Amino acid sequence: MAIIISIANQKGGAGKTTTAQQIAVELSVVGYRIHVIDMDPQASFTQWYRHRRKQGLNSFSVVTIPTGLLIEDLSELKQRSDLDIILIDCPGNIVDITMAAVQASDAVITPVRATGLDLEATKYMILFVASVMKENKNLRFMLFHNAKHASRRLDKEGEISLVKATKSIPGQRAFILKTAITDTAAVAEAGMTGLSVREYAPKSPSSSQYRKLIMEILECLKPADKQISASA
Ligand SMILES: Nc1ncnc2c1ncn2[C@@H]1O[C@H](COP(=O)(O)OP(=O)(O)OP(=O)(O)O)[C@@H](O)[C@H]1O
Ligand SMILES: [Mg+2]
Repeated sequence: MAIIISIANQKGGAGKTTTAQQIAVELSVVGYRIHVIDMDPQASFTQWYRHRRKQGLNSFSVVTIPTGLLIEDLSELKQRSDLDIILIDCPGNIVDITMAAVQASDAVITPVRATGLDLEATKYMILFVASVMKENKNLRFMLFHNAKHASRRLDKEGEISLVKATKSIPGQRAFILKTAITDTAAVAEAGMTGLSVREYAPKSPSSSQYRKLIMEILECLKPADKQISASA
């Protein structure tokens, strides 16, 4: 049985597609069987994947479903024994699609930029996830700081306000990931090439940040009693 992970944040441009790209590549190269569902009418993930396929790099499968996905279809996909992870790249600004994806998920990963609007949108996301968790007892929530600027005061204040906001989520089910991804040219450029950041710029600090982030994500997906440390 596969697990379903949604990359979601209703704020546009937070880094959802970029995060989905890194997870899909990095976990598929170490043997996870990944199927990506691009739920965004803009189909950014699919466009990036086309570049990837042209280069003969297709270690996982992608389906584009811009009008939303039926929960029944997701439960069918989940039963497939040839998949480990179904990764859903949710759209920005389309609340219904994100809601349906989150309700069907085992985990939600939310990238957040530390600007006023992004932080406000994320607080709504947290409240929504907390309400879904009342029904969906398996759901875990992971949040991380994307496009971080080390010296900005707003970034530090933003992190503090998000820690407070996640207190509405029951214990051991919300994780603020320790690894932040900084705002770099390597990340922005990789998104235009069909490559992951590690493939595009293996020696860049962003490449090792994503490696650490993905290790943390795998840790948070383990059953609570098997986790080395909880981050929330
Ligand atoms: N850490 C980063 N450093 C530099 N650029 C980044 C970073 N993260 C994302 N970007 C860039 O920001 C833009 C938006 O990122 P992305 O498309 O992943 O966001 P999104 O949340 O999927 O947006 P949408 O809501 O429109 O689907 C892209 O051009 C991407 O390359
Ligand atoms: Mg996107």
